[in-house]
Amino acid sequence: MSTTVPGLHPLIDYHPETTSIRDEVLDGLQQTPKQLPSKLFYDARGSRLFDRICELPEYYPTRTEMGIMQRHVDAMAARIGARAMLVEFGSGSSRKTRILLDRLDDLVGYVPIDISKEHLLQSAEDLAEAYPALTIVPVCADYTTTFELPDLGAERTTVYFPGSTIGNFEPDAARDFLRRIAAIEGAGGGLLIGVDLQKDVATLEAAYNDAQGVTAAFNKNVLARINRELDGTFDLDRFRHRAFYDADEGRIEMHLVSLADQRVVVDGVDIQFDAGETICTEYSYKYSLDGFAELAGAAGFAVAEVWTDADDLFSVQYLVAQ
Ligand code: AVI
Repeated sequence: MSTTVPGLHPLIDYHPETTSIRDEVLDGLQQTPKQLPSKLFYDARGSRLFDRICELPEYYPTRTEMGIMQRHVDAMAARIGARAMLVEFGSGSSRKTRILLDRLDDLVGYVPIDISKEHLLQSAEDLAEAYPALTIVPVCADYTTTFELPDLGAERTTVYFPGSTIGNFEPDAARDFLRRIAAIEGAGGGLLIGVDLQKDVATLEAAYNDAQGVTAAFNKNVLARINRELDGTFDLDRFRHRAFYDADEGRIEMHLVSLADQRVVVDGVDIQFDAGETICTEYSYKYSLDGFAELAGAAGFAVAEVWTDADDLFSVQYLVAQ
């Protein structure tokens, strides 16, 4: 990989080479009810499956958010302002970011932050080729932990957090996470965030139960990953995918349901399942505009502008740190 692409700075690395998932997996599987952290989805295969989810006819969030970005990019650029630093949390392949970068021609720099080093470097290099005048400073970090932003002498910092990934945090954790962003940026800092909205149950449940079974494969891939990385003995045919909307909590829940009484071994530790017992693998919270404004307010942000699609499926919001 070349390091001489103009504008592309060396990677700032906060992420250790080898992190084991052992403790989190065993801890979650020994709790009642059983659970696994949703970040385990995103190994190489899981990331590919997630890219396929984003293209599914039932999975409305990605194309709806892209449409909102395309339609309102001028207003978003006006909010971000001149000589800003744009910091993206969980940048992945930075697809949506290109809509902003095409429009923002006086950015002081773009700082993509991602936990997956290979993916980060590749997409930073692709962007450096597509935007030769742009300063790009890739940071490899788990963005839920503490790290420092580079000082590029910007007038203002705007964090970009698309995809409604905020919905994968439980509300208290979401508030604490937003609070940390507000603290990193300081008063006047911006947050351009994608937030999925509450809607009819059928649309929501279809998005997590697609006809092709891609979401089911994405969910079950966690078990395959545990088998591979932790010498696990999960029989994937003895678990099924289940996703449903809990209207009281305002969230989709994803589970893996054991189809039998069974014993599984993970890194030498016995885990017992009853038939019908589930492992909760993900929450995906859906917000009302008022509910999200309340959460943002509790985190020290004010909602400055909200853009939605014609059917109010999804929102992109610009928040300002107070
Ligand atoms: C990444 N995140 C916002 C997705 C979501 O919709 O909560 C993850 C996902 N899980 C199943 N399908 C997509």
